[in-house]
Amino acid sequence: MSHYLHPIDVTSLPSWQALQEHRLLMQDFNMREAFKADPQRFECFSTENSGLFLDYSKNLITATTRELLVNLAREAGVEQAAHAMFNGEQVNASERRPALHTALRRPMGDSLIVDGRNLMRDVHGALAQMTDIVGRIHNNLWRGYSDKPITDVVNIGIGGSFLGPQLVSEALLPFTQQSGVRCHYLANIDGSEFREVMANLNAETTLFIVSSKSFGTLETLKNAQAARNWYLSRGGSEEKLYRHFIAVTSNIQAAIEFGIRERNIFPMWDWVGGRYSLWSAIGLPIALAIGMSNFKDLLSGAYGMDQHFLNEPFESNMPVLLAMLGIWYHNFWGAQSYAFLPYDHYLRNFVKHLQQMDMESNGKNVRQDGSPVATSTGPVIWGGVGCNGQHAYHQLLHQGTPLIPADFIVPVVSHNPVADHHAWLYANCLSQSQALMLGKTLEQAQAELRDKGLPEQDVQRLAPHKVIPGNRPSNTLVMESLSPGRLGALIALYEHKVFVQSVIWGTNAFDQWGVELGKDLGKSVYQRLTSYDSDTAEDASTQGLVDYFRGRHRG
Ligand code: F6P
Repeated sequence: MSHYLHPIDVTSLPSWQALQEHRLLMQDFNMREAFKADPQRFECFSTENSGLFLDYSKNLITATTRELLVNLAREAGVEQAAHAMFNGEQVNASERRPALHTALRRPMGDSLIVDGRNLMRDVHGALAQMTDIVGRIHNNLWRGYSDKPITDVVNIGIGGSFLGPQLVSEALLPFTQQSGVRCHYLANIDGSEFREVMANLNAETTLFIVSSKSFGTLETLKNAQAARNWYLSRGGSEEKLYRHFIAVTSNIQAAIEFGIRERNIFPMWDWVGGRYSLWSAIGLPIALAIGMSNFKDLLSGAYGMDQHFLNEPFESNMPVLLAMLGIWYHNFWGAQSYAFLPYDHYLRNFVKHLQQMDMESNGKNVRQDGSPVATSTGPVIWGGVGCNGQHAYHQLLHQGTPLIPADFIVPVVSHNPVADHHAWLYANCLSQSQALMLGKTLEQAQAELRDKGLPEQDVQRLAPHKVIPGNRPSNTLVMESLSPGRLGALIALYEHKVFVQSVIWGTNAFDQWGVELGKDLGKSVYQRLTSYDSDTAEDASTQGLVDYFRGRHRG
């Protein structure tokens, strides 16, 4: 039986126990000293692939640490699990499904037989369908009900049917086609968002993409219905509704019942998880924004990282290294959260996509076989764009009490050079990582204050407040500039990082049973809010808040 159905107790592995012993020896490890002791530290702890350069030298590690972490990855069966995933085995054990987002970026000519079917035919068929509609829209051949070309596309979707496409189309704005259409994203069931998104749109020239793998998500269906009403109230006809509504879904029947023509339904498959689906037709808004050529570059960038992940020895394997560094800090140093700090305006929403990718994948407390986990699992993922974070939460990173590892991401070249701004942006990124590592001792703080001429009593009073503990770990990912290929590689890098960590913990990275309860309870709360003959809520808090709502909405 495959390993993932009966995951091992990772804490019983010799490499885990060796890491526990090693952790004790590393208690007083000091990065400053380590850099002094080894002039080659930067070279020793950096690696490059797919246009991404990873400097992981500012970590609480030695070569022995890396060796022990790699041993753990090997003993936990990461290599076997990776090949199982790429080959279409049911690595999503609870739903008895493969997880084949990697198939979506495999090149023409590849074949992947799963249950007797060559999935690559489906993948490349969908890509051809996308190429056709993108071409028709870009060449003004797709017309609305009044025969005007499409100028705006509204993607109606939430979670993985929104976050990945929004991240990529935002990040690749410099690659937006001149003949492209403006892409908008409608996700939440909030009238204010609906109004904001629809504010300046023209029903004659707007195309809605209803993106929903299940075609059963409340927010998406309600927004699709509201969009339909908006379209009809602004001159659109039922008869020509098909020109303004297309769908990406695995639930063909539901889409047809909504009124979408079958030929305008783009396939989603149950072997692609929502948070891993931007590479599929869910990425249609991306392709409409940047064109199919750039979309295919995005795919090939991810494919390059896939090959690196599958074939590179773990000692220089970027996804494995990032994953195992996360395991080191989470399971051996007690870090409960992880910060992503992109120093690039175009990656300002990268952390939102990473939050779903990581926390919906690894926020689990049972293993693939349903048994309780033996370790702490998925950390909290947070962060935001630099330099803004330096004026918001970096104080906590530098002088707070928790250990919070950070990944900095920065391009060497800006798409929009303004004076010396990019040099300053890059300098700030490096200096934040450096400050986390170096810190400032009490002696240094005192000397600084004396140099400023402060009286000794003020030096003694202020100095403790200016001490920076330092010795705080971070990785820095550098690329020449943000491009479709490098962005594809970057996203795939984190997809595989998340997967490797799930293998170490023995959990399923591809299901999300935890979101069901809230959805189910929402229906009964809705009934209590809107009908007067409903029973009272199970708890006084919910009922009290229902009463508050009804009290304010009487009549
Ligand atoms: O949050 C639960 C979830 O199922 C996500 O995994 C998914 O990306 C999102 O809701 C949207 O689901 P769908 O694409 O089926 O509408």
